[in-house]
Amino acid sequence: MLRVTNLKAAYGKIEALHGISFHVEKGEIVTLIGANGAGKSTTLKALMRLPPPESATVTAGDIEFGGASILGVSAHKVVSDLKMTLVPEGRHIFGNLTVMENLQLAAWSRKDKGAAKDIDRIFDIFPRLAERAKQHSDTLSGGEQQMLAVGRALMTKCSVLLLDEPSMGLAPLIMYDMFRTLKKLNADGLTIVVVEQNARLALQVADRAYVLDTGEIIAEGPAGDLLQKPEIRAAYLGA
Ligand SMILES: Nc1ncnc2c1ncn2[C@@H]1O[C@H](COP(=O)(O)OP(=O)(O)O)[C@@H](O)[C@H]1O
Ligand SMILES: [Mg+2]
Repeated sequence: MLRVTNLKAAYGKIEALHGISFHVEKGEIVTLIGANGAGKSTTLKALMRLPPPESATVTAGDIEFGGASILGVSAHKVVSDLKMTLVPEGRHIFGNLTVMENLQLAAWSRKDKGAAKDIDRIFDIFPRLAERAKQHSDTLSGGEQQMLAVGRALMTKCSVLLLDEPSMGLAPLIMYDMFRTLKKLNADGLTIVVVEQNARLALQVADRAYVLDTGEIIAEGPAGDLLQKPEIRAAYLGA
């Protein structure tokens, strides 16, 4: 479904991705793990076709979606036509708008009129958001804000969801809850690409994983296998 081949990307003269290759099949949960600065966010922004300076410029290689290159596709078409949506690092919800208003705004990319019904679905997935529908988003807890960020992404009716460090800043129980929800969404057909510094958690829920180290993929395989590898455990799992 998604195929990245020898992708190089640079911020000005500084190359952040040195020719990475990976693929994501329909229905999978794929995780990209790696330390701070490895190039995880750069990779997701490149997939979303976000332009510089927010993202790096692709200097070589290709990104294909459904067999066709998307290097010439604009970011808003990635959302509206390819149905791929990013939950960015730090969530970026509108704090001065209510939960409901954030969800309504997120329907911008849609051509159909089913937004109201979909808000009900988001409230089924995250009952906490229903209780706080009229509350200003900047008064939500970190976990609730992450729920809203995911809910907002789902409002675009995406078939591929990219998540940038969804566990960041969350208490362990809230984190596990969030990943359980992602697993459920995946069981309902959503393809998921999640990048994480929390490698243990990511490897527990993903089907397959890639390890990114300073702009290069240094290991890949079934997530369960990587979880058992001594060198991965030592470098990324603290054990
Ligand atoms: N907007 C930017 N301008 C210049 N360099 C950047 C920018 N964003 C990230 N970088 C650099 O690119 C590399 C990869 O960063 P990033 O993709 O954010 O890593 P990660 O998400 O894995 O922490 C790092 O060396 C970082 O300093
Ligand atoms: Mg990052």
